[in-house]
Amino acid sequence: MNYLFAKKPLAMLLEEMKHENRLKRVLGPVQLSSLGIGAIIGTGIFVLTGVAAHDKAGPALIVSFIVAGIACIFAALCYAEFASMVPVAGSAYTYAYATLGELFAWIIGWDLVLEYTVASATVAHGWSHYFQDFIGIFGMQIPKVLTNAPFDFNPATGLISATGTWFDLPAILIALLVTVVLVKGIEESVKFNTAMVILKVAVVLFVIVVGAFYVKPENWTPFAPYGWGGISFFGKTIWGQTGAGGEPLGILAGSAMIFFAYIGFDSVSTHAEEAKNPQRDVPIGIIASLIICTVLYIAVSAVLTWMVPYDKINIDAPVSDAFRQVGLPWAQFLISAAALAGITSVLLVMMLSQPRVFLAMARDGLVPQSFFGAVHEKFRTPYKSTILTGVVVALLGALVPLRILAELVNIGTLLAFVIVCAAVLIMRRTNPEAERPFRVPFSPALPVAGILLCLLLMFSLPVENWVRLAVWLGLGFVIYFSYGRHHSVLAKERAAGKA
Ligand code: ALA
Repeated sequence: MNYLFAKKPLAMLLEEMKHENRLKRVLGPVQLSSLGIGAIIGTGIFVLTGVAAHDKAGPALIVSFIVAGIACIFAALCYAEFASMVPVAGSAYTYAYATLGELFAWIIGWDLVLEYTVASATVAHGWSHYFQDFIGIFGMQIPKVLTNAPFDFNPATGLISATGTWFDLPAILIALLVTVVLVKGIEESVKFNTAMVILKVAVVLFVIVVGAFYVKPENWTPFAPYGWGGISFFGKTIWGQTGAGGEPLGILAGSAMIFFAYIGFDSVSTHAEEAKNPQRDVPIGIIASLIICTVLYIAVSAVLTWMVPYDKINIDAPVSDAFRQVGLPWAQFLISAAALAGITSVLLVMMLSQPRVFLAMARDGLVPQSFFGAVHEKFRTPYKSTILTGVVVALLGALVPLRILAELVNIGTLLAFVIVCAAVLIMRRTNPEAERPFRVPFSPALPVAGILLCLLLMFSLPVENWVRLAVWLGLGFVIYFSYGRHHSVLAKERAAGKA
């Protein structure tokens, strides 16, 4: 049993960083923050705000954004402490390996596949719909059979039905295009990302500033039509109203849903190995990108719910439709273009992060080294796993109805945050002397608050997500016990008396 909880010593992690076959160190604080913003602003703010305001929180959506933002800021500070201590590519996976042992590390690594690959597929799907709307403005359309996944799942009835289409062609094309950019190199990827980030932030500012001229204070009455609660415990609502399907309603239920909008800041930590000065710049990148996006999100949700009565907010394209409703239809074009750019950069950074987590796992022997550990000679990128990630995202995005998976991504990411906050507390005890260029303030209170808030949001998600998370982790166990534990480098070194 011992090997399951074997921890990778901090000294071993730091020693490994000096070796060959590492990635190119080219990223400074501005590029890292821009990667963070690239990963954060996308489907969440441009799409999910609609359902969250309309069905879960009403104008109190702004409070939902504040609560989810606070949970993320606590988690981000914990990520920053670790990133400054152990600046290697594996992010939460590596932090768990150093503190909780191999099995937990595997669970988190496998959980990050949910966060990055499954989220990318969800996002590719969202991109496709925005793309189809966008070309529709110019009177163009693609053949119906190539517009969507072949089947759909109705959460209200639990039934699967055929959609009459073959597959989602735009989702395949965008996933493959992004893959090509990613294989070419980190510098190309960062340039591409920066251009998208400038465009999307400019349009978000436009929404806030122009939208502010159209606010009607009466739209904020009633402020919290679904109540202030929304906490459930494995499907049983313990505080707040319940919807027709038994799902929790209220501000916290809204927070659990729009949490998706914040996902991505942690991906900055997967680029630690490509940072010029990781100990200083990765914490800056994580915290700066999250704070900028939190402020923008709070402002957008305030303006949106002030412009349009909450029950008239459009569910598919809430932001652009709000401008149509106040008589500015031309803004729809601008906002759709920014949403497309925004969603492309989310895809880019998520698909950039996944192979870097695999790379760290491959170096530890938990996934095949020859495939996931291969770094391209010329481009210095983990090209084989980048291509594999691209193909899986393209296939999932093209063939699977992904609305269920968005919530699965939320619960998986929240679990990663809980573990990282816990790992900070453990590391403070086990390695109190280790150098920590960045320290979480008010520890242990702040990491404990981070754990509790993230757990609260996990419990506020509909219960099916717990079942899906358990199935996903079960699948991960099968892989670990049939491959990882037999190939673990740490286990071999321990057997040889070296670690
Ligand atoms: N935060 C990312 C988005 O909203 C995942 O698209």
